[in-house]
Amino acid sequence: MSHIRIENLSKMYLGRRSKPRSLHDPAEQSGDNVLVLDDVNIVIEEGEMVCILGPSGCGKSTLLRIVAGFEFPSSGAVFVGNQPVRGPSAQSIFVFQHSGLFPWMTVAQNVGLGLRHVKAEEAKQRIQDHIEMVELDGFEDYYPHQLSGGMQRRVELARALALNPELLIMDEPFSGLDFLTHMKMREEVVNMHEFIRKTMVMVTHDIDDALIMGDRIVVFSGRPATVKLVHKLDFPRPRDFERNPELSRLRSEIFLMLGVPYAV
Ligand SMILES: Nc1ncnc2c1ncn2[C@@H]1O[C@H](COP(=O)(O)OP(=O)(O)OP(=O)(O)O)[C@@H](O)[C@H]1O
Ligand SMILES: [Mg+2]
Repeated sequence: MSHIRIENLSKMYLGRRSKPRSLHDPAEQSGDNVLVLDDVNIVIEEGEMVCILGPSGCGKSTLLRIVAGFEFPSSGAVFVGNQPVRGPSAQSIFVFQHSGLFPWMTVAQNVGLGLRHVKAEEAKQRIQDHIEMVELDGFEDYYPHQLSGGMQRRVELARALALNPELLIMDEPFSGLDFLTHMKMREEVVNMHEFIRKTMVMVTHDIDDALIMGDRIVVFSGRPATVKLVHKLDFPRPRDFERNPELSRLRSEIFLMLGVPYAV
């Protein structure tokens, strides 16, 4: 069971000077305290793919880190499958916004990082399958510093997918990928999601990624992030903006919402 409930979640990063008495007291937001998330409520169904959009610095990564258990809310709570999140869990896998590869491990060792509990033969197969999936066969014995930024991203994705997690949390997983690889990985992730139907939460800056991949999108306001729009995407797949005027209209609406006056 891996539906997610984010309930009345607020997060304030505390500065050096003071502890807040109340999150909404303006005096507490001056000084070094920063209110990042303000009363966020989202329910993510089991097996759903939710894409989160919002301006840079609004608090998207902070929200994901709280869902993954790496950080704690100032108020409110997150439940994964009815259990409150109290710390990182092997069932929830997080793909970080910036590379989280271990530099002293090869590609194959990085991809196999979480597979120690799996029988050696099966682990070997899973590592190989996922390296092939991200088209890095031949690079198994390379170290991260010998790869391009885009290749490192693909190793990270392979590592996350190889674990077959209940909940996959992805923070801009395609950043740093070239256009063609981005398109391919997007398709791979959509196909994989259709197949395994695991719960996925993805933050992206790419409005098209969100509209093409998501079962639902959530748009945040600028900091402190509040939920500005939640929209279910019932469009058939594969999704195509040209053939689907309603999808195109929604795209323009979100561009406007994010402060861009026209859809580019
Ligand atoms: N550990 C921290 N301590 C203090 N402030 C922090 C910390 N982490 C993030 N912040 C602040 O919280 C705000 C939100 O940061 P966050 O990384 O969540 O934004 P984001 O929406 O993911 O932005 P981007 O789209 O650029 O990745 C920023 O103002 C940032 O400076
Ligand atoms: Mg971020």
